[in-house]
Amino acid sequence: MLYSLLRPAIFTLDSERAHRLTIAALRASPSKSPPPSGALAVSVAGLDFPNPLGLAAGFDKDAEVPDAVLGLGFGFAEVGSITPLPQAGNPKPRLFRLVEDKAVINRMGFNNGGAAATLDRLQARAARKGIVGINIGANKDAADRIADYATMTRVMAPLASYLAVNISSPNTPGLRALQDESALTDLLDAVFEARGEKGPPVFLKVAPDLEPADIDAIARIALDSGLAALIVSNTTISRPKLRSHHAGEAGGLSGAPLRDLATQRLRDFRKATGGAIPLIGVGGIASAEDAWERIKAGASLVQLYSAMVYGGPGLPRQITTGLERLVKREGYQSIAEAIGSE
Ligand code: FNR
Repeated sequence: MLYSLLRPAIFTLDSERAHRLTIAALRASPSKSPPPSGALAVSVAGLDFPNPLGLAAGFDKDAEVPDAVLGLGFGFAEVGSITPLPQAGNPKPRLFRLVEDKAVINRMGFNNGGAAATLDRLQARAARKGIVGINIGANKDAADRIADYATMTRVMAPLASYLAVNISSPNTPGLRALQDESALTDLLDAVFEARGEKGPPVFLKVAPDLEPADIDAIARIALDSGLAALIVSNTTISRPKLRSHHAGEAGGLSGAPLRDLATQRLRDFRKATGGAIPLIGVGGIASAEDAWERIKAGASLVQLYSAMVYGGPGLPRQITTGLERLVKREGYQSIAEAIGSE
């Protein structure tokens, strides 16, 4: 309610400035405990999620506010993408609200403060409860990008509930080529070696812009390599019909226009993996109904980012309350029973 009153004023600000203010406001907010488990509790990769709704990577790139994010009612927070060295990202402007489309285009380019700065913050909260995944990336200028992922795995593993290997950002030239079969095999070998026997589960985040043969190859590698989950998906470089005057901006598109494509990719990965690996559905989720559809399509967990821009800080609780209602209405004891039920 308050957010819908404030939103017009927030939308007069440049998007990136509005985002900095949001992070500052979250930093100043009193810390609350993560939500209790109940009918929404889900276990994935040995982790007990109090509810299946997470905040997607890119919102809290530098791990400044993971506990405040959990306090909003999210069942988990994914920080990052973090690269080994600090990186300025692309020139501004690089973040655009497509208000008429309930969408966002970004070409941030992995702007982040680097591993060392984030590590200090994550160490300071290490004793706290709550599932905080760490999304890792490679520096744009790295001579050996696979070595960057191995370094990030080694450094971040002790502090991560899970690691998310992000090779699907469209804003680091050539990064998505790591989704190719032989590069991906080499990458995951390096990551698992760096993680060792006892480290946290490793998830892989993929693009929605994949051909059927890519999906089959990634699914095969995921099953062979010991990945604990696939995150489907990152932003799209495709451009469904859009109305906003920002529609022509370069970068990755997210929010409502991504919903159908991301849902289709989730179904594709479910089919290609035969349900043998948990999937995390992300892309265009803005309501309990969207989350429910994705769960029925095979997602064990879901995430969102863009909908926070339009829905504000009350959105996670609205969605989890709506999900509780849907679980009851459909006659389930637990949301886990609804996964893949379509
Ligand atoms: C992102 N996303 C993203 N993903 C990632 O793995 N690492 C990152 O650093 C970022 N950065 C980022 C910045 C901005 C401004 C946006 C809007 C998105 C992608 C994000 O996590 C998610 O996969 C997509 O945005 C699709 O979900 P929504 O936004 O449609 O809910």
